[in-house]
Amino acid sequence: MKGATAIRDLAGFEGKEVLVRGWLYARREAGKIRFLVVRDGTGYLQCVAFSKEVPPEIFTACGTLGQESALEVSGTVRKEPRAPGGYEMGLKDVTVIHAAQDYPITPKEHGPEFLLDHRHLWLRSSRPHALLRVRHEVCQGCRDFFYHRGFVLIDSPMFTPAACEGTSTLFETDYFGEKAYLTQSGQLYLEPACMAFGKVYCFGPTFRAEKSKTRRHLTEFWMVEPEVAFSGLSEILELAEDLIVYLVGRVLERNSEDLKVLERDTASLEKVVKPFHRMTYDEAARILQDPAVHRRAAEQGAPPFVPGGDFGGFDETVLTESLDRPVMVTHFPADIKAFYMQPDPGNPARALCVDVLAPEGYGEIIGGSQRIHDHDLLLSRIREHKLPEEAFKWYLEIRKYGSVPHAGFGMGIERVVSWLGGVRHLREAIPYPRMLHRLYP
Ligand code: 4AD
Ligand code: MG
Repeated sequence: MKGATAIRDLAGFEGKEVLVRGWLYARREAGKIRFLVVRDGTGYLQCVAFSKEVPPEIFTACGTLGQESALEVSGTVRKEPRAPGGYEMGLKDVTVIHAAQDYPITPKEHGPEFLLDHRHLWLRSSRPHALLRVRHEVCQGCRDFFYHRGFVLIDSPMFTPAACEGTSTLFETDYFGEKAYLTQSGQLYLEPACMAFGKVYCFGPTFRAEKSKTRRHLTEFWMVEPEVAFSGLSEILELAEDLIVYLVGRVLERNSEDLKVLERDTASLEKVVKPFHRMTYDEAARILQDPAVHRRAAEQGAPPFVPGGDFGGFDETVLTESLDRPVMVTHFPADIKAFYMQPDPGNPARALCVDVLAPEGYGEIIGGSQRIHDHDLLLSRIREHKLPEEAFKWYLEIRKYGSVPHAGFGMGIERVVSWLGGVRHLREAIPYPRMLHRLYP
């Protein structure tokens, strides 16, 4: 096929004749002029056909082609400030590569279930397209951030013999007659790797059999997880701040067009600078125990916060709704957190851990901690949590040979993307969402 020009690059072709390949996004007409809007994945191009200037069969085609027909259009590029992208094409020729008819997603409003059932087509619409471009930038941003800070990429396996984040959300599979689980987090495999490479990270899908239907939970989501040897809670708080500030800045800079399509209020993202707010679990708990907060929870049908318990979605919203920057909540009660978290030496009932909550009510985007590096303490925790000792033998062994304090965190990609894109539900922040009642398409 003859080389085509990407719509994104048309500014460099003003006054020249080009060929563009894409799909018919929309068409309209005004008297003797017909407009085709063609999209090619890099942008939208308005093509203008005058009845006097194009052969009659082409003019007819411009009035009858179905939405999403695949086309080759050629003509001259000219400046047009009112057109999307600032340029339009004076149409000379149209070749139909595939004529589409009755495309199911039309400019009228569709419900979310209909759109999700048609996710394979919905990807072409402007909002999902913009949000997935934000995701693309967030993912590449994570890789660049860690690469430039000397972290080594160590991918963790997807099939695992044991739980990392509690046994209630494990997906079990049959592994040649043995039980295996889909990974909930790569962390357990990164801890050994940081003793080999110093600073490591993994980036991949993780799985949790979340049986609740909330807008913040997927059963398959992507997580980026750094792990650093010779470090503790304070170092990873810094790292988390730096990563988030970097990603927000990068998306503001490179996705401004996408954020416009998403109608995202960027002023609130511009306020995301260091230092983030910090509070301990006990300080957060005091806010949540306010009678006015309890009344609001009751009005909204949210479970009331119980002192000593974990935060729910409503609680996270309350803690962040009035804040301009993320808040890092530290020192949760050890007994509601994962088995591997290092106790606070000053108060062993509290763990050296953090949840980073995004502002504007988006909730937890990062969970992390310093890890227990003492062999016997870790073994006793594994026993208290009634975890299968045999499956954790290798993990314990790390604590026998040159064990050092180490810490890390996991950042949920869809949580960050939905926050940056200003989209309430996580299902839009991943190309093909997997949820309690969704395995299709
Ligand atoms: O807080 P979590 O459970 O922490 C861990 O998995 C640690 N092992 C990570 C580590 O220290 N290396 O999960 C980390 C993040 C959450 O803050 C949230 O952003 C995201 O993963 N997350 C989910 N995202 C979408 N759907 C779900 N069901 C999620 N569960 C957690
Ligand atoms: Mg968490």
